[in-house]
Amino acid sequence: MAGKKRLSAPSERLSRSGARLSEVGASESESGPRLPGADAELVCASGDLADGGDGIRFEVERDGKIVPAFAIRHGGRVYAYLNRCAHIAMELDWKPGKFLDAEGEYLICSTHGALYAPESGACRGGPCRGAALSRLDALEAGGKVYIRKG
Ligand code: FES
Repeated sequence: MAGKKRLSAPSERLSRSGARLSEVGASESESGPRLPGADAELVCASGDLADGGDGIRFEVERDGKIVPAFAIRHGGRVYAYLNRCAHIAMELDWKPGKFLDAEGEYLICSTHGALYAPESGACRGGPCRGAALSRLDALEAGGKVYIRKG
């Protein structure tokens, strides 16, 4: 898991770029949109995700385990998934943060080439055979990207 760091507390982690991931308290800005509540976790700044560019790797807690995940921007929207191929439980990226194929059309698994739709995680070709990535509930507010805790 090159490029990722994790602190001991699940609610206090570091992203690939070293930005702190922290729990988000319910808040409302006087000048901006309402921010997500305490059930959301900060992933990165919106500007960290270029459309069709590299993804951001991070970790989430699921069923008591810390597991790898990622967020990407595609077609202007942010999507997040567990970083686990539906064929075999391998991480997808062929280099840290490289999740898209050469055309930027599909998410691609670096191990055997399974293709997934960026907007749904559904298998679109290769050995994933009708399975899908595990999607996380991603949202943007106030220039930041969050996921809802599972
Ligand atoms: S492990 Fe992803 S395609 Fe086989």
